[in-house]
Amino acid sequence: MPGPKGWPLIGSLLDYSRFGRFSFERMHVAKRENLAVYGKIYKEKMGQHIVNLFDPADIETVYRAEGKYPVRPVMPLIAVASKRDKEPMGFGSLNGEPWWRVRRAVQQSMMPPGAAHVYLPVQNQVADDFVRLLSRKLDEGSGKLEEDITKLLTKYAMEAFGAVCFNVRIGCLEPLIPPDSDAYRVIASVNNMFEAIQKTNFAFPWYAIYRTQLYRQFLEATKTCQRVAQTYVDEALRSDEEVEDDGKKVKGKNFLQTLVDNNSERLTNDEMVQLTIDLFTAGIDSTAYALSFCLYNLAKNVDKQDRLLSEIDSLLDRTSCPPVTPEVLNRMQYLKACVRESFRLNFPIEGGPMRQLSADLVLSDYLVPKGTLVWLNFQTMCLLEENFEQADRYLPERWMKGEGDTLRPTNNFFMLPFGYGSRMCIGRRFAEQETWLALIKILQRFRLQLDVDASEHRPIGMINRIFTMPDANIPLKFIPR
Ligand code: HEM
Repeated sequence: MPGPKGWPLIGSLLDYSRFGRFSFERMHVAKRENLAVYGKIYKEKMGQHIVNLFDPADIETVYRAEGKYPVRPVMPLIAVASKRDKEPMGFGSLNGEPWWRVRRAVQQSMMPPGAAHVYLPVQNQVADDFVRLLSRKLDEGSGKLEEDITKLLTKYAMEAFGAVCFNVRIGCLEPLIPPDSDAYRVIASVNNMFEAIQKTNFAFPWYAIYRTQLYRQFLEATKTCQRVAQTYVDEALRSDEEVEDDGKKVKGKNFLQTLVDNNSERLTNDEMVQLTIDLFTAGIDSTAYALSFCLYNLAKNVDKQDRLLSEIDSLLDRTSCPPVTPEVLNRMQYLKACVRESFRLNFPIEGGPMRQLSADLVLSDYLVPKGTLVWLNFQTMCLLEENFEQADRYLPERWMKGEGDTLRPTNNFFMLPFGYGSRMCIGRRFAEQETWLALIKILQRFRLQLDVDASEHRPIGMINRIFTMPDANIPLKFIPR
């Protein structure tokens, strides 16, 4: 199989160091170049051999052969911390029967299409509070933000999913967050955790030899998240507050209690706590970054923004701004198309999902042995003209049935932002709901604009922090309507 030659032991890692022409932060640049040189399947040694796939037919073959327990490779830093410091291994890092036991316990509470609807009332409130915070952070004259929008959206995502997970308002949307508050600590910790994971992912594993600065950063951040989340978990389990479900008051239906009630797998209390913490941390940066790119793409494409606002106005009165209901969301097809198109232009996770093959497979005429790591490169595939006509343009219409049918491929294996099969993203319903709510509420109140003249504007690129993050502050203006 073709691929970069590299050096004994380290393979092509030097190419990604400061002596090389690539970087770990922008691996999509390397992948694009390698794809052009080696074709739609190539192998690269980065510590170990990884087979990179760019052909949707190969990706489908991998997904269809996954078997009962699809194997996702464990991030090396997490593996070392688990072995050396007995750090609990998060649900997304488990494999085999232990993974399935936890996944099965939450599957029914999280995966059905309406699973997040019961949390709409509280998420409506969080989205309203977010828009209020946004207004306070704006310079009234110019509409410019005094804080980076991605940072603000991180607070939103944390508050929105915290309200679901723990049934408390964490306080991330307060205008001033005291540095000694839980909210402040969690925001910083989640960021530090993903930074450490990303920076060590393919680098030489010094942290396995001694406790490097990044390793210590990771341990400290995980412990802070666990400590803070534990206090919320304890409260959530004590609470018997009533919430609304389809207009009726239902007792004790907070997320954690739902998990406890449906605990058919008899997870221990510790497992339940760990699971909630995993979900909470997995859902913050992912959703915040995705939303940042949505706002950016809508600000750049005013005609698409106008069409989206028309759809919102046709279903919700802009003066009274009533709460968004499941029925309204079901009818907002253009909103969903806008988000999906943003996922295509800025694919949300580094490269795409990875798998360790659980059987020998024939991929693009090569026999790839069981145990090989394969990388499903949606991030690159989504931007290829041969896969998506007018690939560099933001065209939500391509996802509208009966309208953009020629602009999208006929099968799904070209682009799966939440993955596929039994290991697909378990938080999908929640992430989508938070994203849709924020976009609706922001557009009802503000017209989005880029802060600079389009001719001067350097396009915002992608950098990888496990999730795909904007590579600079997005120069947005929020002009009150
Ligand atoms: C826009 C936001 C999000 C995106 C784009 C996203 C995307 C993904 C992707 C691509 C995967 C890997 C799928 C695979 O390997 O095939 C994944 C896994 C996962 N996601 Fe998300 N995610 C998002 C938000 C969330 C949220 C809000 C939560 C928590 C509620 C969450 C929890 C998880 C977990 C726990 C896994 C591992 C599942 C398993 O291994 O069984 N994600 N996500």
